[in-house]
Amino acid sequence: MSVDPNRPSAARIYDHFLGGTHNFAVDREVAERAYALVPDLPQVARDNRAFLRRVVRLAAARGVRQFIDIGSGIPTEGNVHEAARAADPGARVVYVDADPTAVIHSRQILGDDPLTVVLQADLHQAGRILDDPAVRALVDFGEPVCLLLVAMLHFIPDSADLHAALRRYRDAAAPGSLLAITHGTAGSRTDRLEALADLYVRTGTPLVLRDRAAILALFEGWELVEPGLVHLPAWRPDPGDPPVADPEAYAGLGAVGVRT
Ligand SMILES: C[S@@+](CC[C@H](N)C(=O)[O-])C[C@H]1O[C@@H](n2cnc3c(N)ncnc32)[C@H](O)[C@@H]1O
Repeated sequence: MSVDPNRPSAARIYDHFLGGTHNFAVDREVAERAYALVPDLPQVARDNRAFLRRVVRLAAARGVRQFIDIGSGIPTEGNVHEAARAADPGARVVYVDADPTAVIHSRQILGDDPLTVVLQADLHQAGRILDDPAVRALVDFGEPVCLLLVAMLHFIPDSADLHAALRRYRDAAAPGSLLAITHGTAGSRTDRLEALADLYVRTGTPLVLRDRAAILALFEGWELVEPGLVHLPAWRPDPGDPPVADPEAYAGLGAVGVRT
């Protein structure tokens, strides 16, 4: 596992969007150029984290006590295990990320916490993740799980391998399991978002801006819960949450599916 401080990383750029400190000059440079193109990116990142916490609450309310968070990122305020334990102290969480910085910081924060597992793996390696002995010891696949693919699928182009991996996760999930996806989208700002995608080429995880239909296709075999695929702040907002100021331009969509 090695961290390259000379190559920007999607995980560390996002950490900068959220006001974190686990980033290098190369990451900050990409982040600054990203803000110049899409000034509300930090707000969308915060909306994304708030969506994640609302999903964890919904899962807990449905009695789901096991979470698999793939593309979990660098730990920041309101992590999945914290939100899940607020509802159920026995909640179990598997954190998976391909980026060594994310994995190192997750391990530092979690130490030898017996109710969490941290893996460095790629989403496409579904067999490796699902069959990992530590995952098998923590997660009971006879019971529902909540699979979180939050702000990460827009780094993965469509391919037969991606869809095969998604099917594998779905087939491993017991009825009542949930799949949460958030995803970047261009909205009315196609030119700016395409320029943003160009910035990410240097990271090695190019940005893939799917439209609504392509995002919905990622939920194959899952039934969306209300209100379906919507702008992040519009998904089951808490009382008093502000509405999206400019829905046409807003860059993030999210939804939750249930395995029936
Ligand atoms: C923008 S961050 C999102 C972090 C967190 N899920 C959140 O929404 O707050 C995207 C994360 O996905 C990870 N990632 C990108 N492609 C991946 C892949 N193929 N497999 C696993 N993780 C991946 C990146 O390393 C990064 O940490």
